[in-house]
Amino acid sequence: MAVLRAFESARAKGAEVPEVVCFEKQDDWGGLWKYTWRTGTDQYGEQVHCSMYRYLWSNGPKEALEFADYSFEEHFGRPIPSYPPRAVLHDYIMGRVEKSGVRPYVRFETPVRWVEYNDATEKFTVRVKDLKADRDYSEEFDYVIVSSGHFSTPNVPSFEGLESFPGRVMHAHDFRSADEFAGKDVLMIGSSYSAEDIGTQCIKYGAKSVTFSYRSNPMDYHWPDTFSEKPILTRVEGTIAHFADGTSKPVDAIVMCTGYLHHLPFLPDDLRLKTKNCLYPGDLWKGVVWEGNSKLFYVGMQDQYFTFNMFDAQAWYVRDIILGRLPIAPAEERAADIKSWMDREAASTGPAYDIDFQADYVRELIAATDYPFLDVDAVAALFKQWKHDKHDDIMGYRDNAYRSVLTGTMSPLHHTKWMEALDDSLEAFLAQPETA
Ligand SMILES: Cc1cc2nc3c(=O)[nH]c(=O)nc-3n(C[C@H](O)[C@H](O)[C@H](O)COP(=O)(O)OP(=O)(O)OC[C@H]3O[C@@H](n4cnc5c(N)ncnc54)[C@H](O)[C@@H]3O)c2cc1C
Ligand SMILES: NC(=O)c1ccc[n+]([C@@H]2O[C@H](COP(=O)([O-])OP(=O)(O)OC[C@H]3O[C@@H](n4cnc5c(N)ncnc54)[C@H](OP(=O)(O)O)[C@@H]3O)[C@@H](O)[C@H]2O)c1
Repeated sequence: MAVLRAFESARAKGAEVPEVVCFEKQDDWGGLWKYTWRTGTDQYGEQVHCSMYRYLWSNGPKEALEFADYSFEEHFGRPIPSYPPRAVLHDYIMGRVEKSGVRPYVRFETPVRWVEYNDATEKFTVRVKDLKADRDYSEEFDYVIVSSGHFSTPNVPSFEGLESFPGRVMHAHDFRSADEFAGKDVLMIGSSYSAEDIGTQCIKYGAKSVTFSYRSNPMDYHWPDTFSEKPILTRVEGTIAHFADGTSKPVDAIVMCTGYLHHLPFLPDDLRLKTKNCLYPGDLWKGVVWEGNSKLFYVGMQDQYFTFNMFDAQAWYVRDIILGRLPIAPAEERAADIKSWMDREAASTGPAYDIDFQADYVRELIAATDYPFLDVDAVAALFKQWKHDKHDDIMGYRDNAYRSVLTGTMSPLHHTKWMEALDDSLEAFLAQPETA
């Protein structure tokens, strides 16, 4: 959607832009933000993309992800609180793309099956499936931009004894509603955002206890007594979970919050990005240009502090390479640039360092294009404040408000504290305090 928007922005300013086709597997746009109750496979037998769940609220302040060309105030007609639920962010994203009129470029219910590059013609052949018509077809393109996300194919480890565990075992990708865990003792494997958010949400909706089991490090929060943190699960015997420190605990359900795989089955080896979830995957110059073929681009493949505005920065950059406005540096220069970013990531000292790293990356991309001014330093400061607020109060950080870096407006406090806001609908969130 960022790429479509980037081309449209150039077209609106009078540039001659190439024909753009977007193949989308789902029946509407919104990516992960398009919620579905489905898990596993969809009505066509395709793998369900959605990893979001009911009652998901933004886990970062909306002021940190605001598109530089479309403020929340413009979309909602007034300032709104800083941590919106999923439906509100979905509405905001939709507002921008619908306004820019790019829907006709998207072929929905059309997954990409295979991409191949032909050295002789210097073109890509893209094979897709029109799911509604139940028909395969191929088309040729000069450039391909892979923007299929990387938080949809679950990374699922296994643990001894799970075969005979009597309760529910699932991955975060298939988690849909905390309601089913009310009154239960739930074990979360993992110590990152999914563990933290699904765990806190389960307590919010009535779980008896949440135990986090970490592989590397525990989370750095002050957990209320309903939570506990244990080192990695070693085995399960009946309902008893055993941990690496020799302790054990009876649990009713296990949720693997163990992250996602970069799974790009539609690309051959020589075009396929192979990486773990990190800030600077190798083989991508400027984080977007494929080293093996500079007509192939990837958008959004990094781990993310910055999200919507980083995708924009990348989309504008890729667009300008395609429009011939930005050069591709010689191979040696590219390799040195990639190496310097990767070395810098390897020297990370923690979240504040990583936030500055990604801020520098986004700033560099934005400086090269006509993407509207974004005060990247102010966004980085917001992320650091957010980290601080989470550390202060992991169950209450969403009750804070921040100032928009675009409009300068201070966001209002929400009418209901997050822990008490059980209705996550757009209507409930946007209700004025007296009607809430
Ligand atoms: C549980 C969860 C919660 C999150 N919460 C937040 C948050 O609160 N705030 C925030 O800023 N970010 C959040 N994120 C980060 C999220 O990655 C981004 O906000 C954003 O959705 C990523 O956009 P994307 O376009 O890169 O990928 P996606 O949103 O995953 O979109 C990729 C699109 O590609 C399509 N696609 C995939 N494969 C194919 C194919 N073969 N052919 C055709 N189409 C295909 C998919 O159907 C999908 O529409 C969250 C992520 C997860 C997993
Ligand atoms: N809006 C929201 O509230 C919300 C909610 C959930 C997720 N998200 C987003 O979703 C994205 C993904 O987050 P994520 O937490 O799913 O993934 P992630 O950040 O990649 O973290 C993966 C976690 O799984 C652990 N892990 C991986 N393999 C393991 C194994 N074999 N055994 C034990 N632990 C293992 C990792 O531990 P190590 O540290 O040892 O590697 C890490 O703690 C993020 O962008 C996040 O912001 C947002």
